[in-house]
Amino acid sequence: MAMTSSFRLLPLALLLLLLAMAHARLQPTIRLPSDDGTRWAVLVAGSNGYYNYRHQADICHAYQILKKGGLKDENIIVFMYDDIAHNLENPRPGVIINHPQGGDVYAGVPKDYTGKEVNVKNLFAVLLGNKTAVSGGSGKVVDSGPNDHIFVFYSDHGGPGVIGMPTYPYVYGDDLVDVLKKKHALGTYKSLVFYLEACEAGSVFEGLLPNDIGVYATTASNAEESSWGTYCPGEYPSPPSEYDTCLGDLYSISWMEDSDVHNLRTESLKQQYDLVKKRTAAQDSYSYGSHVMQYGSLDLNDQHLFLYIGSNPANDNTTFVEDNSLPSFSRAVNQRDADLVYFWRKYQKLAESSPEKNDARKQLLEMMGHRSHIDNSVELIGNLLFGFADGPMVLKTVRPAGEPLADDWSCLKSTVRAFESQCGSLAQYGMKHMRSFANICNAGILPEAMVKMAAQACTSIPTNPWSATHNGFSA
Ligand SMILES: *[C@@H]1O[C@H](CO)[C@@H](O)[C@H](O)[C@H]1NC(C)=O
Ligand SMILES: *[C@@H]1O[C@H](CO)[C@@H](O)[C@H](O)[C@H]1NC(C)=O
Repeated sequence: MAMTSSFRLLPLALLLLLLAMAHARLQPTIRLPSDDGTRWAVLVAGSNGYYNYRHQADICHAYQILKKGGLKDENIIVFMYDDIAHNLENPRPGVIINHPQGGDVYAGVPKDYTGKEVNVKNLFAVLLGNKTAVSGGSGKVVDSGPNDHIFVFYSDHGGPGVIGMPTYPYVYGDDLVDVLKKKHALGTYKSLVFYLEACEAGSVFEGLLPNDIGVYATTASNAEESSWGTYCPGEYPSPPSEYDTCLGDLYSISWMEDSDVHNLRTESLKQQYDLVKKRTAAQDSYSYGSHVMQYGSLDLNDQHLFLYIGSNPANDNTTFVEDNSLPSFSRAVNQRDADLVYFWRKYQKLAESSPEKNDARKQLLEMMGHRSHIDNSVELIGNLLFGFADGPMVLKTVRPAGEPLADDWSCLKSTVRAFESQCGSLAQYGMKHMRSFANICNAGILPEAMVKMAAQACTSIPTNPWSATHNGFSA
């Protein structure tokens, strides 16, 4: 009798709370709302070759952050060619570093897709969670559900509308965004964060990525500028003297060195964006450095990084400081010239008239030869198509912010194939000319006309490894 009357006195809200607590005790774990769903991550190093050391170093470092943040290997999918750690030129065999004084970031990194398995088909299949479309590799895919959060980090060379792969073809902005839209239509994520390091990275999303599919992207550079390698030989801070290659990329190490030390339970996407933007801008000089950009669902700005990449418990007590004390750089090397720095230093270091010096000299000349062949051929085609007065201007025209690079991306890809079939591969360096090809399409020139012009401009494909097309076309 006394019991019932006291129950009757309890306010309804309190009663409901008691019921909820009793119910919670029956559950194996009590989940906070933000813990709902699984965290997935896809890490992609889009290059190979020791002179591109830094991209795989970036990716390995990102893995260590995710791992310390509490993500499980079964939810982290890594694409890397894996030719760095055990490369003959690596002064520390089996070790990869991403900072001059940094420790090994290679240990423990899952080798899901390596070598030729690092290709665009596998990448798209992994993102879409389509196991049957994957060939080779671990077979791991983003097997996500509607409450899950996905983090994608890509580090490589790029060009207008395109990001590289160590295999052909490359990844085009329209295809990548189509995959994200498809993933959204499948209903297999709550939100997705995409961090992209590449030259002209903004052009991959500019005018393409919708703001209503729960995808938030930041890019190392805007649509029309280089991104930057860092910890490069001869710069400050420079890598240990035994390294002839850049150890990292400016935007990449900026978000990662920030994530290494902060409590990501309290740091928001926007806060990290602001810090990374500031550091990558190189004290607003932009003489080296680039404009970090945001695209897509900016309503996710206030979310905490924890939701995507977890947080290292060792940083639980660190407080976020707006003006972090991370060092700035005296100089950095633009991504496109980082391989030249490498080949040049290699050449310089070798003893006069040694056979190795001869080889290094040949490599350097081949590389320079390929660059000027590509530059001259594209320029000549522009002149043939639009006249010597207008050609250069048409090719270089940059569309206003918010507009996509091309109106017809399949025309762009056919035009690239037409060029490569006559003039040889664009390769890593030649990606910079994608805007010219897009502008040729935007001017209404059909790929068939391009074949004829390219045949006039290039009488033969030069014999150097960069020009070879036997591994396929970039598009
Ligand atoms: C998965 O890929 C296979 C092979 O490419 C394709 O036939 C199938 O339609 C794809 N499934 C989904 C759900 O997209
Ligand atoms: C954070 O601070 C709490 C309270 O002072 C302490 O118990 C805990 O060990 C600290 N955690 C770390 C990782 O330092």
